[in-house]
Amino acid sequence: MPNKVIELLKTDPEFARFESFKRPYRNASVRFRKPITLEDRLEALNAAHLNVFLFRADYVDGCDLLSDSGTSAMTAEQWAQLMLGDESYGSNEGFFAFKEQVTTTFGSSWANLEARHPNLFLFHQGRAAENALFSILARTLPPLEKGQRYIIPSNGHFDTTEANIIANGIEARNLFCPELRDRASKFRFKGNMDLALLEELIETEGERIPLIYLTITNNTGGGEPVSMENIRKVRELSLAAGIPLFLDACRFAENAWFIRHDEVGYQDVPITAIVHEMFRYADGFTISLKKDGLSNMGGALVLKEGGLFVGRYPGFSDRLTDYQILVEGHPTYGGLTGRDLKGLIEGLATVVREDYLTHRIGQVQRFGHELHRRGVPVVMPVGGSAVYIRVNSFFEGTRHRPEDFPGVALTALLLLFGHRLCELGHFAFGRHDGEQEHLPAVNFVRAAVPRLVYEDMDLAHVAETVARLHSVRDAIPGVDVNHGRDLTLRHFKAHFSFKA
Ligand code: F0G
Repeated sequence: MPNKVIELLKTDPEFARFESFKRPYRNASVRFRKPITLEDRLEALNAAHLNVFLFRADYVDGCDLLSDSGTSAMTAEQWAQLMLGDESYGSNEGFFAFKEQVTTTFGSSWANLEARHPNLFLFHQGRAAENALFSILARTLPPLEKGQRYIIPSNGHFDTTEANIIANGIEARNLFCPELRDRASKFRFKGNMDLALLEELIETEGERIPLIYLTITNNTGGGEPVSMENIRKVRELSLAAGIPLFLDACRFAENAWFIRHDEVGYQDVPITAIVHEMFRYADGFTISLKKDGLSNMGGALVLKEGGLFVGRYPGFSDRLTDYQILVEGHPTYGGLTGRDLKGLIEGLATVVREDYLTHRIGQVQRFGHELHRRGVPVVMPVGGSAVYIRVNSFFEGTRHRPEDFPGVALTALLLLFGHRLCELGHFAFGRHDGEQEHLPAVNFVRAAVPRLVYEDMDLAHVAETVARLHSVRDAIPGVDVNHGRDLTLRHFKAHFSFKA
């Protein structure tokens, strides 16, 4: 059928761009929300004392960008798998399927999960796995001289990881790479660990480093990815010093996508092969399956058979089994129902799809660029799971002092528009010692994008709202902290009010 128009379209350079507009999925099920008025939101904001964590989720009638964790919409295939959950007590069918999926997803170096000592431990979420790891580690390590502490370095510990480390008497040290702090830097892999700092730390305090942690992607460090080169080099240092390397692997697939698209030499390597390479360098990993497991609940701690960690801490696995039985149930279900397990296995298989990742990360990029285009200072290049607003730059030139926590005020005001974002900066990561504030190196408000939930138009509206508030930033008041300033993990509990 000769058709000039078809011929024209086929050779049109715009045609490929039109292809990229398509979502690789369509809605199979939706949920209506109840109508909410500004009055309702004001009332809820007061009831929540301006704290986003205490604000009723059913009053967030715009975009709920509080977290990308456990907030994913499930695929129809995942819902179907829920029906096939095996609810036997102990060694249910799902556990074996999960083991197999771990090998498929993370590579053959994790294949020996039939080891004499168990090395695959399920938990109900990531922080439970972290708690198990660090509390048993603290009990396993020989005591140090008075006043000395063990140190666990990372490219950026997540807040619960850090809290779990500190709660066990160990120091959590963040070795952010210098490019992260440089606003002008266009470097793609700002999630990297500062290798010079790591090398120096190993040289001076190596004896006190029980393991090294790499968070991929680096949630605390602007949600930025970590390059394969950085993972490899951290591994070289870890091997040379005999110190095990762990991955905090929550967003492993998104990290792999960035390596494929932005790191030299990986353009033709499939996502699964990139994931396998990343995990080859590790001796163990903790993972919250609520992110790249595309699940609403789930976590795991996995030790590599024959790896540095198992070699350095023999008996750890047995202690971990006892711990898990006390806290989460038998290791083969670890706080999860059989149907949870089936759903997350399906999620792990889906998350490495190239079309899914391209759309997912593309959406976060488009959202970030929209904010940037409207003049809102955000961490650039944009990361994979969230857009991070630079609070210091946002309020530059205004009268705010850091202890006025304008980032908290911004999140409170956004709730009035129906959008929920989260301050991850001076308040969340800062500390008050009774006399003064100790400010962290980073100061962000984060807009985390749930997976498969929102459309670009929803996020464009958030960008417009934030830009609107940016244009009246001089008028945004700071906040007083009326409760919780001195508490640990204070951002979850604090009460605020707007300054007069
Ligand atoms: N590690 C990282 C890098 C995380 O981002 C999180 C959770 C955890 C560990 C803990 O996992 O929630 O399953 O216990 N991050 C969420 C967030 C809560 O909003 O960024 P969990």
